[in-house]
Amino acid sequence: MRTRVFVFFLTCFVLAGCTTRTVPEDFPATAASAPSSSISLKLPLKPKSVRFAVIGDSGTGNSAQFEVAREMEAYRQAVGFSFVLMLGDNIYGGDSPGDFVRKFEQPYKPLLDAGVNFYASLGNHDNPDESHYKLFNMGGERYYSFKKNDVAFFVLDSTYMSPKQLIWLEGELRNSNAVWKICYFHHPLYSDGKFHGPDLDLRSVLVPLFQKYGVNVVLSGHEHVYERLKPQNDIYYFILGNSGQLRFHNLRASDQMQVGFDTDQDFMLVEIDGDELHFQTISRTGVTIDSGVLQRQPRSASPAKSDQ
Ligand SMILES: [Fe+2]
Repeated sequence: MRTRVFVFFLTCFVLAGCTTRTVPEDFPATAASAPSSSISLKLPLKPKSVRFAVIGDSGTGNSAQFEVAREMEAYRQAVGFSFVLMLGDNIYGGDSPGDFVRKFEQPYKPLLDAGVNFYASLGNHDNPDESHYKLFNMGGERYYSFKKNDVAFFVLDSTYMSPKQLIWLEGELRNSNAVWKICYFHHPLYSDGKFHGPDLDLRSVLVPLFQKYGVNVVLSGHEHVYERLKPQNDIYYFILGNSGQLRFHNLRASDQMQVGFDTDQDFMLVEIDGDELHFQTISRTGVTIDSGVLQRQPRSASPAKSDQ
């Protein structure tokens, strides 16, 4: 076990370009400079596929957030993704109009200018009034769903998981006949982060619904690291809570971990084509730290009655 742990952290260290930097606290003047690396695409870019990016715990306004955003824009030009999922803690600190500018509109300006839409979920550091911020596309709701071709997204407020929200979620899942069902929210149900760990109360109420209605993929943030878990109950789980924040060396070794990365900020690209989900996770410095393809799980006949 000791050897495996050493190899794991050595691998992450090497993949991160041997960086040992700490999170910078300075504020850059512009987000327009060139990315630090060349593009190395691991996605197939199939015609008519659904392509998007994922960020979490991003809203610091610090230089690392801008640097991740620059990599995102460089990859957008190659991939052509049209939307971004936000896994919560979108705006840290104050929530004045200036905070939205410094911690969202400026870092992601190239993406916004290109017409990319962001779909936010709320984290524990977010003011629920963010649901009314137009560029987060939440429609004034703390939890909501949307669909892109055959892929349905169910966005939850995991800070306040009320019975009303659970009833809403079950109805949405039951009535969806989407080929892929992706659920995302801030607090992870499974986690090897040392700082928080898994939210067992949430797990107890959400996993039964995910299993009953065939959720394929669950994305969360909150832990300021990246982790891809081995499938749990036949569901794929990712944690991506380090697009702005970072907790350096905050992952513990675990048998449930497939890949972990806790030495730099990152974001993830996803391309869904038929029964395949391709993913590529890219660091602040442009290094691909994880990639692969997930096969859609065989599900029993959908309980859906109509499209959502
Ligand atoms: Fe959080």
